[in-house]
Amino acid sequence: MSDILCLYYSRTGRTAATVSQIARALNAELAEITDGVDRRGWRGYLLAGKEAMRRATHPLQPYAAEKPLGEYKMVILGTPVWAGRCCSPIRGLLKRRGLELERVAYVLTRSSAHRYEEIFEQMDQYTAQKHLAAVSLRPGSVGYEFWRDRFVEDVRRCMEK
Ligand SMILES: Cc1cc2nc3c(=O)[nH]c(=O)nc-3n(C[C@H](O)[C@H](O)[C@H](O)COP(=O)(O)O)c2cc1C
Repeated sequence: MSDILCLYYSRTGRTAATVSQIARALNAELAEITDGVDRRGWRGYLLAGKEAMRRATHPLQPYAAEKPLGEYKMVILGTPVWAGRCCSPIRGLLKRRGLELERVAYVLTRSSAHRYEEIFEQMDQYTAQKHLAAVSLRPGSVGYEFWRDRFVEDVRRCMEK
């Protein structure tokens, strides 16, 4: 059983791939969260954008973690950037369970060159403690592996403390 849980939401698979790589490198447990909302295609894209702008969330479906959130030494949350914010399902998790998160780290995936690091502070508003590590990644870009691997090292260092 791992001391690290990676929880992510992914609409089109990019965050899923990134967080899976990170989970593998850290021997972490990996679980996908969903709120059951269909966000496929253009309609789904527009809906996702609207939800992000309004900070709207829906109740989450149960996800497959082996322990309660508070029993992990680190919970890593993976979210795509939606309209300069975290995605609605991850906001839904933060709203409902954020106070159980004492040792947390964030992984953002995005499609543009802008890093959106202000999202880390926005997510911290819901958690019991501020994040210990964070990274903003653009899958397929130059430097992706470098920043991903540096994040893995940062998390390893945090785990030793
Ligand atoms: C509604 C919506 C809004 C988005 N807004 C941004 C944005 O503001 N900046 C950006 O760089 N990417 C934006 N993206 C692109 C995604 O963040 C990016 O493609 C991400 O890696 C997708 O992850 P996923 O495949 O796990 O869903 C947006 C995507 C969606 C669906």
